Amino acid sequence: MEIKVEKGTIQSSAADTLIVNLFEGVTVPGGATGAVDQVLGGAISDLIAGGDLNGKAGEVAVIYPRGAIAARRVLVVGLGKPDGFDLEGVRRAAATAIKRAGDLNADHVATIVHGAGIGGLDVAEAAQATVEGTLLAAYRFDAPKKREASHDVSSLTIVEDDDHRIEAITAGARTAEAVVAGVCLARDLVNMPPNVATPTRLAEAAEGIAFTHGMAVTIGDRDWAAERKMGAFLAVAKGAGEPPKFIVLGHHIDRTDLPTVALVGKGITFDTGGISLKAAERMGDMKSDMGGAAAVLGAMEAVGRLDIPLRVIGITPCTENMPDANAYRPADIITASNGKTIEIISTDAEGRMVLADALVHAETYKPDAVIDLATLTGACVVALGGGVAAGIFCNDDSLRDKLLAASEATRERIWPLPLYDDYRRAINSEVADMKNSGGRMGGVGTSAVFLREFTNYPWAHLDIAGMAMSEKAGDYSPVGGTGFGVRLLIAYLQGMAS
Ligand code: BES
Ligand code: MN
Ligand code: ZN
Repeated sequence: MEIKVEKGTIQSSAADTLIVNLFEGVTVPGGATGAVDQVLGGAISDLIAGGDLNGKAGEVAVIYPRGAIAARRVLVVGLGKPDGFDLEGVRRAAATAIKRAGDLNADHVATIVHGAGIGGLDVAEAAQATVEGTLLAAYRFDAPKKREASHDVSSLTIVEDDDHRIEAITAGARTAEAVVAGVCLARDLVNMPPNVATPTRLAEAAEGIAFTHGMAVTIGDRDWAAERKMGAFLAVAKGAGEPPKFIVLGHHIDRTDLPTVALVGKGITFDTGGISLKAAERMGDMKSDMGGAAAVLGAMEAVGRLDIPLRVIGITPCTENMPDANAYRPADIITASNGKTIEIISTDAEGRMVLADALVHAETYKPDAVIDLATLTGACVVALGGGVAAGIFCNDDSLRDKLLAASEATRERIWPLPLYDDYRRAINSEVADMKNSGGRMGGVGTSAVFLREFTNYPWAHLDIAGMAMSEKAGDYSPVGGTGFGVRLLIAYLQGMAS
């Protein structure tokens, strides 16, 4: 969908479909909605007076001007109560409106920025949220089997009468386009079947990002990882038929004068559990076990588009976890690249293994902060709920606060969980520095303290199991890959850069 910004009044737009809005409780529409009401001879006021339109969130009234203006139809989208209205309300309203426009076979849609009226939200942020809600809701995965032809809206024009606001709206819209490109890349990678989204395919995606944005890229194969003594990553990769890829992307890699942030994403392209084989039921969901890597690649795409003035390193250790004659086994003792030894309890605790070597590798860049994202534990899903919130473990208060602020702004929820030493004791081993599993109890905490053994910098771990893929459609995300984490990471990085 093409996004344009135009100076003018929405009622004189040449678009076939206009989107205006209404807060709940408003009886006399003002602003742009009021202006449209006027040229329609009070049609919107009539709907309100008759009780047909209340301005509730999720509500859309469709009005046919029949020649009164150029547009074929006007959609009035409800914003809900003005009290507590925020950017999430903007994203939801924009999403609701564009989905209805699509259902009505609209081609060219014009909208106002939602929520940025007098005394309202910051105009650039509201414009960004309007475009994000629109584009994220319009996302569709291009699956091999074509569903019944659903209609794509071809353009969205943001119309603004006030000259002074055009620049901010344009900036917000451009940011949104960059961020959404990253989210959609992450969604696509998660939605692809696991025989397509292989480590090799993820490496191709990384090379594409590097080429487009002039980033440095390294695709490490088995030998590359062996030279670096990445025993934990290689242990998981041992049973894999698909060649493993240890991917490193570097944005402004030579700018050591800039603050350095490393983003690390778990890239298990399919998690069977390995020799500790998972149950057959719903095993297919484990194609989403590269959701962390997808979020990091998506974030790097957005970082490149926005040319964020930071040194950003994206690290995604990618491999399948398969049962095989060569696969690693329970009772194996593995040495990671920092020399620490790991007693394997379960080959299904593979995510922390590949992350161990990735977190050690991140040190090479002398990072000011490292954030890892991983679909790491079923225990986190049990604790916080699928699709509700990711868990965040963090060893640095300032980093945690910044991530929580980014979470608040983007509504990608993260909830703090503790790094207690009790969890560390649960993975004490008689034969190695640690076990790779502490058993069922406290499974999310033990996984996090395991990762901590491989960090020596400000670090945050986001357990995004249950967030990367959804069985339910959201207001602006369809069933399947969610792209969770991309918007959060970009909001965090933009905060760091400003
Ligand atoms: N990829 C899974 C975790 C997962 C579960 C992700 C549900 C998404 C949805 C991970 O590799 C895993 O198997 N974890 C085990 C750890 C256990 C063996 C210590 C788990 O959570 O059961
Ligand atoms: Mn597993
Ligand atoms: Zn896994």
